[in-house]
Amino acid sequence: MSAILFSDFGDPAFAAEYARRRGGRTERVAGRIVELAGIGEGDRVVDLCCGPGLVSAQLVERVGATGEVIGIDASAAMISLARAAAKDTNVRFLEGDAYTFSALLRQPVDHVVATSAWQNFLTDRERVLDELARALKPRGRFSFDVRLRSQGAAAASSWREIAQTLSARWPQLALPEVSGGPARRPYTREALELDLALITQRGFRLLHREEVEEPRDTSRSDQLGWRFEWWLARTAPTLSAQARVEILSEFERARAPHQGAGAAKRSTTYVVVEAG
Ligand SMILES: C[S@@+](CC[C@H](N)C(=O)[O-])C[C@H]1O[C@@H](n2cnc3c(N)ncnc32)[C@H](O)[C@@H]1O
Repeated sequence: MSAILFSDFGDPAFAAEYARRRGGRTERVAGRIVELAGIGEGDRVVDLCCGPGLVSAQLVERVGATGEVIGIDASAAMISLARAAAKDTNVRFLEGDAYTFSALLRQPVDHVVATSAWQNFLTDRERVLDELARALKPRGRFSFDVRLRSQGAAAASSWREIAQTLSARWPQLALPEVSGGPARRPYTREALELDLALITQRGFRLLHREEVEEPRDTSRSDQLGWRFEWWLARTAPTLSAQARVEILSEFERARAPHQGAGAAKRSTTYVVVEAG
């Protein structure tokens, strides 16, 4: 397999496609986090790993004209999409690393929110917790979501099986690796317990933990679907339209077992913690 990644957030073309495809789930997650974290008028909030800024848009509505939202992401491509989409003057976007982001802030904030980031990207937990302690006011809150798997393989292993089927029929296709971060592996209940233990050891207090069953249409496999279509359209332009249709239908057949009744169940867990 070639080194092309499915989730190359630094690639402007992928970032634009991600922004276009991202929608329902992000809004649901952001909406729930805003409620659970108790974000309100006048709050100053960091949207950490903000991507194209969809969550920031919801946050800025909540904090109103007297609050402020600061979106931070390591990808320049994501930051420029977020800036282009921003409508309010009290939201700004900064390119920066989650492990050093507190240096970008003029003063501590009331909330830090990180959606779809903790399990695959904020993997050096101790460093990120140190940063959060620096960035938050006393009793400021950090909120994040994780997608728990009750069983089954990670997206990367599902994709590997599907890719084997496709390569057997089209050996000339240089199929990409699935990668969205350094630790694309199943995030289990045990992993969450360990993380929560570390979070409390580091002086944070657990305020809320809520698990919600994932609706079918937002499964990881469906995300794999659009990523694959996008990759096929972009990286295999020399294929005939007929070949593309055949490859897509083989892809659908090969991924069916990963989506059916036997596929791993998923849920989203929301966590809100308070700094000491
Ligand atoms: C799955 S996206 C989530 C984007 C957004 N929070 C959302 O829910 O739509 C993960 C984002 O994390 C960013 N990211 C990954 N590692 C990062 C790091 N160390 N510091 C800052 N941003 C990072 C990526 O560039 C990407 O935009």
